[in-house]
Amino acid sequence: MNTTISELARQDGKTVTLQGWVYSKRSGGKVVFLQLRDGTGICQCIVEAKDGDIFESAKDLTQESSLRLTGVVRADERAPGGFEIAATALDVIQIADEYPISRKAHGIDFLMSNRHLWLRSRGPTIVLRIRHTIIKAIRDYFDADGFTLVDTPVLTPGAGEDAQTLFEVDYFGEPVYLTQTGQLYLECAAMALRKVYCFGPTFRAEKSKTRRHLTEFWMVEPEVAFAELDDIVDLAEGLICAIVEAVLARHEQDLLELGRDLAPLRRVQAPFDRITYTDAAETLRSAETRALLEEELERDRARLAEWEQTVADLERQHDEAKKAWQKDKLDVELQHLRQDVQELERDLESRPQHIELAQNFAWGKDLGGSDETIISKLHAKPVFVTDYPREAKAFYMKQSAESAGTVRNMDLLAPDGYGEIIGGSQREEQVDVLVRRIQEQGLDPADYDWYVDLRKYGTVPHGGFGLGVERTLSWICGLKHVRETIAFPRLMGRIYP
Ligand code: 4AD
Ligand code: MG
Repeated sequence: MNTTISELARQDGKTVTLQGWVYSKRSGGKVVFLQLRDGTGICQCIVEAKDGDIFESAKDLTQESSLRLTGVVRADERAPGGFEIAATALDVIQIADEYPISRKAHGIDFLMSNRHLWLRSRGPTIVLRIRHTIIKAIRDYFDADGFTLVDTPVLTPGAGEDAQTLFEVDYFGEPVYLTQTGQLYLECAAMALRKVYCFGPTFRAEKSKTRRHLTEFWMVEPEVAFAELDDIVDLAEGLICAIVEAVLARHEQDLLELGRDLAPLRRVQAPFDRITYTDAAETLRSAETRALLEEELERDRARLAEWEQTVADLERQHDEAKKAWQKDKLDVELQHLRQDVQELERDLESRPQHIELAQNFAWGKDLGGSDETIISKLHAKPVFVTDYPREAKAFYMKQSAESAGTVRNMDLLAPDGYGEIIGGSQREEQVDVLVRRIQEQGLDPADYDWYVDLRKYGTVPHGGFGLGVERTLSWICGLKHVRETIAFPRLMGRIYP
């Protein structure tokens, strides 16, 4: 009977057929151990010499060769996954060419250039499954709350966010742009259906090579009529809790395998802290913050020294190791550790400068990446920062009382230094104020006639936000870079494969 590795627990003692690929192979004199992967899991399969022909074919199998394998399922505590298969028949589909990705250490550029193959490895498959869970949790959350999904266009005539980050496309001789956000269209839909959301790819020509920036990323954006900033913040808080709960319910083991500490995720429970931008600015400038950051810097310098010592120890063990497999194993460990050392070194180098930037933070500027990192490190849970200066934010955000010079917006910063994962606001619903803001920002009001119309025909308070899937996934999985959160990342300087 055909089955999958994920179903083996129900097949104990039975004869089954698996279809898959060779993840790895180890041969003893009279036995071949195959780690078979089939897209649902990995299972150890044993082929013994007494089985004649199939033993000979098993010996020829190379990494990633495709095959059908029949055998008896037996529970074995020692086996990864708890079950193994004693093979009785083997049908080779293809003997794979020499596979470029081995168990040995590879650099990130090499892996990225081989992303089409790297996807088959354990880490990437775990991340893609968690991504799937997150997306389903998002859809379930909005569905259960009476939202209607509205798909907004990818090709747009004007800017939705920052005009500096538009990708231009030739639209029958006319320049148009890849969408940066579905928001403006979604506001129209909210006036028709009250609670709506869109979920699609968005594009930003960001010339930023950081661990937070992709040029193509997926964003979910809810928009709600008759809502003010507090309602939007509540909605976002509920969403984040629902996402983390869904991931913890299904992926504890996966997260551990990625090396993610679960305790901070378990703390993600409502209510989150809510601070204003002005509070954040004061915090950044305070002497107390400086003291905390400098203490942390000292701790991390000590940690770096320990790691460097470990690298030296492992290098010595590597030199002394006799067997090739021992050297390979140490190579992998060293590769990871050296990468960690390098990253921490770079991080430590920039931190004194980040502390200075924070100490001299001037009210009126947007929070920079390093400022967000500092604020988020000071909170054990995600934290909402609200009411930014008007000049630092987009034209559509609702102005607070004129004297405050701020807008009714919020950013949600993820903990552990991950920074912004959600940006949103209440929208300006007054015609004259909105038109003035469009002009002040150097945009052509004629391009936004349709958008301004919403404020002429039954305007209501409303608002929404956008959550970036990749940044959220990167935080939840504890990854260092968003490039590993999507199957085929688009980054400045990377469009292959
Ligand atoms: O803060 P942003 O630019 O907000 C908007 O686009 C609003 N129109 C959303 C709304 O109110 N409907 O982007 C929202 C989120 C960010 O918090 C971040 O998670 C993600 O989108 N994001 C990016 N993710 C990866 N790479 C980039 N270059 C990103 N830019 C934004
Ligand atoms: Mg933002």
